[in-house]
Amino acid sequence: MRILTGVQPSGKLHLGNYFSVIRKMIQYQESSDLYCFIANLHSLTTFKSKTELEENTFDAMVTFLALGMDPQKSTFWLQSDVAEVQELTWYLSTCITVNQLSLAHSFKDKTAKGINPSAALYYYPVLMAADILLFGAEKVPVGKDQKQHLEYARNMAEKFNANYGEVFQIPEPEIDEGTALVPGTDGQKMSKSYGNTINIFDSEKMIKKSVMSIVTDSAGIDEPKDPDTNAIFQIHSLFLQDSQREELRNKYLTPGMGYGDAKKALLACVLDYFAAYRKKRDDLLANKDYVEQTMQKGKNKARATAQEMIDKVRNLLGIPSIT
Ligand code: ADP
Ligand code: TRP
Repeated sequence: MRILTGVQPSGKLHLGNYFSVIRKMIQYQESSDLYCFIANLHSLTTFKSKTELEENTFDAMVTFLALGMDPQKSTFWLQSDVAEVQELTWYLSTCITVNQLSLAHSFKDKTAKGINPSAALYYYPVLMAADILLFGAEKVPVGKDQKQHLEYARNMAEKFNANYGEVFQIPEPEIDEGTALVPGTDGQKMSKSYGNTINIFDSEKMIKKSVMSIVTDSAGIDEPKDPDTNAIFQIHSLFLQDSQREELRNKYLTPGMGYGDAKKALLACVLDYFAAYRKKRDDLLANKDYVEQTMQKGKNKARATAQEMIDKVRNLLGIPSIT
């Protein structure tokens, strides 16, 4: 089964990203034909600066590799390295109407906020469809917010197949309704935009600061605490096996544990869980050539699939092949 997903390099990756997307991808590469890429072209829709994009892109690549993305088992590349995706974006744009694109939530939300959206934001779903269809993805794991984009990709694939000939696999979204939202330090959804994240590879000092800042109610040491409404427990439980989670739940329910101790236990758990990955990340940072070479190999693998597809598409459209 070919599974494909992309992640925008939009800032430091946090526990919410790890437990919803990254860990899942690392697991998928054991059992599936995993295609995973860093969506730097999509990031141009929220472009801030060249340096920031370069740094975030490198950080995202290193983070995925450190956390276990294995280029031997999967195809892992940088979106902009496969230029065919931009060519396919153009072809696919013939299979969607201006009306449909103006109904995309990603576009409508910005317009509703009074922002004058760029044409790139408007085209965002077409580029995303090209990402998916170019590689013949069968299943695409995404967050709920991407559901509509997947429907667009399916529509474009169906329309292209009907107009020009069967070439595209119709992708199925995988939307994990069950993945509880990972809460941030303020108890809301953990998100870069809320400034409430615990970042996977921040310094130990910074992680300590984030963990210690998790908001709690005023229950004292001698009172039982409700694990189900408690962000410390909810985050901590993500790291645990069922039996350990039950044990921790009982600690919350039994008087005698203060929030200070609960936070210290969570901090120790976070640092311990990521210690080996942190070491791997440091090694990668000290060996940028290796990272570059790895991405180069990923690019070659991804391009081989992409070129084969783009040739078929050109052929169906009556556009001469370049090769
Ligand atoms: P952010 O909200 O920090 O900007 P992104 O929008 O870049 O995060 O999210 C990338 C992926 O991680 C998406 O698939 C999203 O659904 C998932 N994700 C982000 N934050 C959380 C969270 N707190 N809980 C669960 N999943 C999350
Ligand atoms: N739009 C996705 C997001 O913001 C990232 C993305 C780009 C993607 N291309 C994709 C996800 C293709 C899945 C498949 O999360």
